[in-house]
Amino acid sequence: MTNERVLYEPTRPVFPSPAGLITSVDAEGRPNIITLGEVFNLSISDPVIVGVAIAPARYSHELISAQREFVVNLPPADLLERVLQCGQVSGRKADKFAEFGLTPLPATHVSPPLIAECPINIECRVLSVQTIGDHDLFQGEVLAHHVSPKLLGEDGRIDRERLSAVVFAHWAFYEMGPLMSVWR
Ligand SMILES: Cc1cc2nc3c(=O)[nH]c(=O)nc-3n(C[C@H](O)[C@H](O)[C@H](O)COP(=O)(O)O)c2cc1C
Repeated sequence: MTNERVLYEPTRPVFPSPAGLITSVDAEGRPNIITLGEVFNLSISDPVIVGVAIAPARYSHELISAQREFVVNLPPADLLERVLQCGQVSGRKADKFAEFGLTPLPATHVSPPLIAECPINIECRVLSVQTIGDHDLFQGEVLAHHVSPKLLGEDGRIDRERLSAVVFAHWAFYEMGPLMSVWR
């Protein structure tokens, strides 16, 4: 590394971030999916709050604003093709579950479904919506956090070696790298 720097256009300057598949429903319960390049942990306990930033033009923005519920589904690396597909077609024009071969599972606390192909699903109720520049930040109180038993070790805790994620950085996708160290 040198001390030299060049000024660089700051689009999505912070990296990496986990990609998410966010589910929502319309008033009749028809589900939709949107791909996001980042999902945020905003409050880590009492209550746990996650954030999703969605542009006003998206159909998902309309659905989540009306129903005030969403589910954050975290895709493993092998779901990358579906991550791209759900991010290139609007639910105004397509049933993304049917079109892209994804399986809805009933949630326990909210109307939007979990995505079976994603081993971690976070049910959220909207606490607030804040306009942040070109996106609106939906703050979601976490009502339930579902984890596939396939990710659990013998002690019933998440086995970190089994975690997989679609990692987004500078408009490209990566897999999670190897475990370096465990903090706690
Ligand atoms: C990798 C990737 C990341 C994206 N990140 C966001 C995002 O953070 N916020 C957003 O509003 N749209 C994002 N999009 C675009 C939406 O996923 C896309 O416009 C989608 O078709 C909207 O679907 P909907 O109209 O059914 O809600 C992203 C798309 C891709 C492929």
